[in-house]
Amino acid sequence: MIDIPLADIFEKYPDRRYIMFGGKGGLGKTTFSAATAYYLAKKGKKVLVFSVDPQASLTDIFERDIFGKGPTEIIPNLYAQEIDADRRVKEYQEEIRQKIFDMYGMNKIPEEIESYIQAAAAEPAMEESAIFDEVVDIVVKGGYDYYIYDLVPLGHALYYLSMASVYDAWIDKITGLREQMREYDQVAAVMRREKELDEDAILKELLYIKERIHKSSSILTDKEKTAFFFVLTAEEMIIKDTLKAAELFAKFDVPLSGYIINRVLPSDLKGKNIPEYLKNRLAMEEHYLRVIDTTFDKQILASVPEMERDVTGLAMIEKMAKAMFG
Ligand SMILES: Nc1ncnc2c1ncn2[C@@H]1O[C@H](COP(=O)(O)OP(=O)(O)OP(=O)(O)O)[C@@H](O)[C@H]1O
Ligand SMILES: [Mg+2]
Repeated sequence: MIDIPLADIFEKYPDRRYIMFGGKGGLGKTTFSAATAYYLAKKGKKVLVFSVDPQASLTDIFERDIFGKGPTEIIPNLYAQEIDADRRVKEYQEEIRQKIFDMYGMNKIPEEIESYIQAAAAEPAMEESAIFDEVVDIVVKGGYDYYIYDLVPLGHALYYLSMASVYDAWIDKITGLREQMREYDQVAAVMRREKELDEDAILKELLYIKERIHKSSSILTDKEKTAFFFVLTAEEMIIKDTLKAAELFAKFDVPLSGYIINRVLPSDLKGKNIPEYLKNRLAMEEHYLRVIDTTFDKQILASVPEMERDVTGLAMIEKMAKAMFG
C-alpha cells in the first residue's frame, strides 16, 4: 500500500524546505501541517508552520491563541503563526490616507475618498493580497530550516498560486511601460526634472515588488525546494476531485511529492463481531483503497488511521506525527 515512507522523502530531499499539504476542505491539511512541524522540530530543525487561512485553525490545534501575534514558540524549535490579514488591510488603508495627506496637504480625508478607501478594503481580493504580501515577507525574511504552509482548501490554494503569475504578468507590463516612459522622459529631462524623479521612485517600487513576488512564486514551483503533498481519503468523490486538482496544480508547475491517505479505519476491526454499518464502511474503504492504489501509481507516502478522537493538543499531535512518520 505505502510506496515510499513519508519520512524517507524528508531524508532523501533535505533541500525541500517549503512544505505544503493540499486537499479538499476538512481532510486533514492543518492536522498534517502541525504534526509534520512537530516531527521536524523534535528532530532538531527550526520550523515555522503558518496559516494563510482567514479562518485559521492553528490556534485550535495547538490550543494556544496565536492569531495576529507573529511567530509564537510552541515547543523548542517549533513556531506557529496565524496571519492577521485584516490588520494588514488596515495598514494599507492608513498608508493611502497618509499619501493623500502628504501629496495634497490636506488635514482631513474628503468623505467620498474615505468611502472609496473603505469599499476597496472590503474587496475579497484585498484580503488575498494582504495574505500574499505577508507570506512574501515571511519567506523573504528567512531564519527557519522549514516553512510549512497550512493551506486553504483546494480551490482557494489554486487561486493563491495563480495570483502569483497574474501579479507577475501585470507588473511586467507596468515596469515595461515605465521604462519606456523613462526613455521619453530623458529627452525632456531638463524641463521635467522633478517629475522624472517621481517616476523613478515608482519604477523602483514596482521592481521591488516584482522581485519579492518572483522570490515567493519561484519557491512555490521549485522542485528542489518545495514538497507538496496531497491529502485524500478512501471515498469516490474525494479520489475524483484529487485527481482533477492534481492535474490543475501540475499546470501551475507545482511539484507534487505524493499522496497521504487519511482516516483509514483501524485494520484490527476486520473479522471482529462488528455491526453491519461498520462492516459496510470497511468494505467500501477496502474497495477505494484499491482504487487509490491503482490511480495514484507508486506515489502513496503514508496511510494514517482514524484516531479515537479529533487531533488537538500536543499529545494528539505527537500521536499523529508517529502515525505519519513511524
Ligand atoms: N486521522 C484523524 N483521526 C481523527 N480525526 C482527524 C484525523 N484527521 C483529521 N482529523 C480531524 O478532522 C478535522 C479536520 O481536520 P483539519 O482541520 O486538519 O482539516 P483541513 O484539511 O485543514 O480543513 P480545512 O480545509 O477546513 O482547513 C479536525 O477536527 C481534525 O482533528
Ligand atoms: Mg485547515
